[in-house]
Parts: sequence; structure tokens; C-alpha cells
Amino acid sequence: MKAQVYVAKSGEDGKMHWADYEVPCSSSDRVSQVLQYIYEHLDGDIAYRQCFCKRGSCGLCMMKVNGRSVKTCITPVSPVMYIEPLPLPVVRDLAVSFPVRPEKPQPEASA
Ligand code: FES
Repeated sequence: MKAQVYVAKSGEDGKMHWADYEVPCSSSDRVSQVLQYIYEHLDGDIAYRQCFCKRGSCGLCMMKVNGRSVKTCITPVSPVMYIEPLPLPVVRDLAVSFPVRPEKPQPEASA
């Protein structure tokens, strides 16, 4: 199958715009694999966070796909996808700045 993928990219005017790509994929592919294909074969300039755990645990691959916030590493592809950054400060394209979590207090070492 081929997926029509629209990706929100940062423009030089400071606004987001849609870039569109036609991506070969199978129904078992995940959205993160589609982004990797675009980066490797169609647009090496696209900015997004690479997946780390690739099993839905870390949440670093989260983006909005067709209007819903999802973990792209576990979200199946669909024939038409609109991929946007989460509603957080955008670094560039799909890469956002996640809030820093406060550190957990460490137990004091006993003497
Ligand atoms: S890569 Fe960790 S949740 Fe997707």
C-alpha cells in the first residue's frame, strides 16, 4: 500500500506548513517507521525525535496523528495521515521541547 502523509514542517516565516509525501508501507507498519522512511529516502531535513524504546514505554515518540496524540512507535499507519507536533513548544518541525520533570529526592545514605 502507499500512504499519503502530510507532515507539519517549520517554515522560514515562523509558521507551520504541510509537506506531503507518498510513502510505500504495509498495514503492519507503525507511524514511526513511515517517518524514518521519509527521513532516509525523501526528506533528510525533517526534524523529529527518534524512537528509543520502540514499545510504547518512554513516550518520547509522541505526536499528533490525524488530530490525536499518540505514541508513533505503536500506532499503525493509515492510508492518509496528518502528522503534527504535540501542543508543546516546537523546536523544529515535529520535534518539541518536553517539560523537565523535577528530580526525585534521593534517600540519604546511612553512615
Ligand atoms: S519510542 Fe518509546 S514510546 Fe515510542
